[in-house]
Amino acid sequence: MELTTRHLLDIADLSPQDISAIFDMAKRLRSISSNQKEITPSLKGKIAANLFFEPSTRTRVSFEMAAKRLGAEVVNILESASSVKKGETLLDTTLNLQAMGCNLFIIRHPESGVPHQIARHLKVPVINAGDGSHAHPSQALLDAMTLLDKWGTLEGKQVTIIGDIIHNRVAKSDLELFLRLGAKVTFCGPEPLVPTALRELGAIIERDFLNAIKNADAIMMLRMQSERWSGDDHWELIEPYRLTREHLGVLKKNALIMAPGPINRGVEIESVVADSERSIILDQVEWGLYVRMAILHLLGRGDPLRGSAAVDDK
Ligand code: CP
Repeated sequence: MELTTRHLLDIADLSPQDISAIFDMAKRLRSISSNQKEITPSLKGKIAANLFFEPSTRTRVSFEMAAKRLGAEVVNILESASSVKKGETLLDTTLNLQAMGCNLFIIRHPESGVPHQIARHLKVPVINAGDGSHAHPSQALLDAMTLLDKWGTLEGKQVTIIGDIIHNRVAKSDLELFLRLGAKVTFCGPEPLVPTALRELGAIIERDFLNAIKNADAIMMLRMQSERWSGDDHWELIEPYRLTREHLGVLKKNALIMAPGPINRGVEIESVVADSERSIILDQVEWGLYVRMAILHLLGRGDPLRGSAAVDDK
């Protein structure tokens, strides 16, 4: 199985078969790992370049761990320690790394569209690890995988995403993928952070917090992206949109609580909620490793199953 796309820049790059292949491979890799069997080093001899020009814990570390578990070497490039600081363009940096033999590029950048521009010039796969407020496709895939693991299907499920949607790339990629998988998606928050125009993307917009959470099968709480507020102050506006202990009694019996992380405890979500039995925040993180292994495996290797006894082993 090969993906129909060379790069993973947006959810729209993926065909339905690609999405299924990533989920199937992630499940298989997790099963191999939890049975303590050896994972075939399908990326042995490859070099993955991790270029993170914005802070990251989960995405950077899980892509690095994923690449290493598949046998690849990893080079980590941080803006502060690279020659970008001396005026080199990011494109020149990546072309130089490609000339050194890097076979896979994982790029996070504060400006929307940067991984897409780089991908147009490289011969090897580029993975968008988050570009500005635009997209974070691997996060959407791991979020959907986490829900599929719990529910079996997203068809007909109500997923409510709450907070600073306009500045958040996860919300946009989640919306796109969840809708494709048959879920209904509601965005909730105040007008400046959840503009009515987002309806055009296919989301239901709900301003009332209680209405938004009471019928949800899953609630995704987003961090306030104040680094993208360009001088505005929205802290007071967001106060009524915090998920607290009191709200737990309002939710559906089996409603799940999610967050892409990082969470700001006491800001968008109270600790007691983040740490409650309903929270699947750390399940998302765990699936992140296997989903990113699957992405690297399928993009970096071509046919992942050929000659791969361990991966074939269900
Ligand atoms: N969810 C997410 O992208 O987390 P990091 O910023 O820590 O990578």
